[in-house]
Amino acid sequence: MRIYVDCDPGIDDALALAYLTARPEVELVGVGSVFGNNDAATTTGNALRLLELYGRPEVPVARGAGRGLAQPARSAKAVHGENGLGEVELPEPAAAPTDHSAAELLVRGARSTPGEIDVLALGPLTNLALALSIEPELPDLLGRVVIMGGAVRAPGNITPWAEANVAADPEAAEAVLGAGFDATLVALDVTMRTVATDTWLDGLAGIGGRRAETTAEFLRFYTDWYTRVFGVRQCAMHDPLAAAVLLTPELATATEEVPVRVELQGAHTRGQTIADLRPNRDTADLRPPVTLVRDVDGEAFFKRMADALR
Ligand code: BDR
Ligand code: CA
Repeated sequence: MRIYVDCDPGIDDALALAYLTARPEVELVGVGSVFGNNDAATTTGNALRLLELYGRPEVPVARGAGRGLAQPARSAKAVHGENGLGEVELPEPAAAPTDHSAAELLVRGARSTPGEIDVLALGPLTNLALALSIEPELPDLLGRVVIMGGAVRAPGNITPWAEANVAADPEAAEAVLGAGFDATLVALDVTMRTVATDTWLDGLAGIGGRRAETTAEFLRFYTDWYTRVFGVRQCAMHDPLAAAVLLTPELATATEEVPVRVELQGAHTRGQTIADLRPNRDTADLRPPVTLVRDVDGEAFFKRMADALR
């Protein structure tokens, strides 16, 4: 599988990269960075550092957007640390980002190998929206696009209604979800129910090796935040779950095809993802549906995630 990752590392983004780089069937064709969990300079440096940590320094990294299409950037340092990786210091990367922007790198790949590249989007969707404006035929030039983002039936995490990746750039998410990609949404509906438990987290200590040990260090900071907020030692695995669904679609044990829109106004609801869930929804609605994941095989996922760190 040829995969392009767009991400804002970010601790769970790091876990997604750990997952992908462990799987022999994956050919990582590029990584785009975007603002989100931190500023774009930091997420770009982190993408380079992580690819070196996980043994894939040759994968091209392109720096992406530094802010939303219609709003400035925020960051999530309380969750991911000042440096985006739970204050774990990795060596300065030997490689540098490409000369192209993330949107350009994606468009170039899509044009050169039409239909062959699948995209995993783990941050604000700004780079994908910019890529669409460069190449309106992008949906026909890519394979699947699996997106970690949104909250359809679940509460939001950044506001009562909105999930962080979508809320960081609602205009971009609205453009991407309406563009006709073969898109799958791995939203908080499933990621907040697929949490790493105490036992699973403790099990990482027994794996050994730099890959697992460093990832476990990232997770310590992240889990501390979840523990403070939820009162239980656990953490959500948003981005690696999306990676796993891209590689193994059967992990999504229940899905539905629905049109999803993003609220762009709203005094309290900007960034909300609204799916038309009515059985009698308007058949004249030309909005292309996306695949919304409703349930996953969490046990199989956590086994695979641990295997990826071995
Ligand atoms: C998403 O927001 C980011 O903080 C995480 O990396 C994940 O992609 C969860 O809402
Ligand atoms: Ca992310």
